[in-house]
Amino acid sequence: PFRQRLLVVANRLPVSAVRRGEESWSLEISAGGLVSALLGVKEFEARWIGWAGVNVPDEAGQRALTKALAEKIREAFYDSLQRCIPVFLDEDIVHQYYNGYCNNILWPLFHYLGLPQEDRLATTRSFQSQFAAYKKANQMFAAVVNEHYEEGDVVWCHDYHLMFLPKCLKEYNRKMKVGWFLHTPFPSSEIHRTLPSRSELLHAVLAADLVGFHTYDYARHFVSACTRILGLEGTPEGVEDQGRLTRVAAFPIGIDSERFIRALDVPQVQEHIRELKERFAGRKVMLGVDRLDMIKGIPQKILAFEKFLEENPSWHEKVVLLQIAVPTRTDVPEYQKLTSQVHEIVGRINGRFGTLTAVPIHHLDRSLDFHALCALYAVTDVALVTSLRDGMNLVSYEFVACQDAKKGVLILSEFAGAAQSLGAGAILVNPWNITEVAASIDQALNMSAEEREKRHQHNFVHVTNHTAQEWAETFVSELNDTVVEAQLRI
Ligand code: UDP
Ligand code: G6P
Repeated sequence: PFRQRLLVVANRLPVSAVRRGEESWSLEISAGGLVSALLGVKEFEARWIGWAGVNVPDEAGQRALTKALAEKIREAFYDSLQRCIPVFLDEDIVHQYYNGYCNNILWPLFHYLGLPQEDRLATTRSFQSQFAAYKKANQMFAAVVNEHYEEGDVVWCHDYHLMFLPKCLKEYNRKMKVGWFLHTPFPSSEIHRTLPSRSELLHAVLAADLVGFHTYDYARHFVSACTRILGLEGTPEGVEDQGRLTRVAAFPIGIDSERFIRALDVPQVQEHIRELKERFAGRKVMLGVDRLDMIKGIPQKILAFEKFLEENPSWHEKVVLLQIAVPTRTDVPEYQKLTSQVHEIVGRINGRFGTLTAVPIHHLDRSLDFHALCALYAVTDVALVTSLRDGMNLVSYEFVACQDAKKGVLILSEFAGAAQSLGAGAILVNPWNITEVAASIDQALNMSAEEREKRHQHNFVHVTNHTAQEWAETFVSELNDTVVEAQLRI
């Protein structure tokens, strides 16, 4: 059967490389929602172009890594990926583009956190050079795309790292079908307006044929930014600039729910579930799984848990919070500060409420493999997602997919995109209000089986019906249609 050729372009490849020798590399699965979701996309002939997460200054190393990435990658769910193609970024570019412009400026801004407090002025001063590095990095991605592009390919650019890419690609070839999808929120135009490069970024994105967001609100914010900042015309279809339309729409992402449901039957996972049940017998298990990121509201979550313990002495030995905090962007100072802040709070609470034999919080600064993660989701009574802002949040979807036996409760931040899809089944909270979150922990732990069942069912139907595969098919077919319509208009 005909399979559409798809070039996926994202800063992060689905695997990150670790150097084992001059010409020897091992590959590890990359963390984060973008990679998880795209791995659930199967019905395309896909090539993935991105950065392997390492600096490879020497040619021998680059050649060996390119080869390692082109060969068939280990696990079954990589079947859809014909190959991964690396973009090599040097150390200075990574520092200014990835650590600097992307993760110290765009990321906090798009999540309404503002610029990092302490070095605001320094950040403001380095802005121009970091933006120049950002553009340069985007051009490097574009050059690799251009090298691998064949007529008829769909080129799908992802996320805030690559807002400049659509423009670079169209400069190579006006006929290229280019889509761009943002995995984070797009903030109110009042926030976007503060960015010195606000107009250039918007114009560059508008070069795409189709621009997609997780929610209708993000799409609306983007269109208002274009109308208010650029003075363009917003229509129900998108944004118009001198007769040329850029289609803008919402495409809520999903997960490969089948993969999680199947995993629960794997003997290794079953064994793991048994061990965990034994380990936490007599206690309710609460779970948090997040990259150790400011946007996840981890300190707020832990403080709310402390308040719950304070107010409910009878629960002290009967509940445990497992917090998996996956290290991320560790070269960015804000992330380093967050790590020590979280450690301090966890230490204080465990010191305060722990006994010789048990502590209330198990905090892990590490990632888990897929099977361990599934087992953990399956034994959890209450999942706590307290993002201060989050594009979608796939952890909440994955938890729901693994809960068909247990029917545990999801406490979910109203500021996660997922609140719009799982809101009716979850307990929605404002993560800044720790009194409210503490009360919802109480509510979740005491919820009747009937109510849990009803809420779970609602979310389970959503998660199993709105998959990553469907998300990608919808986006790509909309992109194909958009291009056809544009040709008819001329
Ligand atoms: N995840 C991971 N390694 C881990 C724990 C979790 O890769 O040790 C995955 C998790 O399964 C989920 C993703 O990281 O698919 C997180 O996605 P989410 O949308 O919740 O947040 P993001 O990290 O993209 O901000
Ligand atoms: C979020 C972003 C992704 C990113 C992921 C992990 O999900 O939307 O683009 O890949 O975080 O972050 P990292 O900086 O390690 O790629």
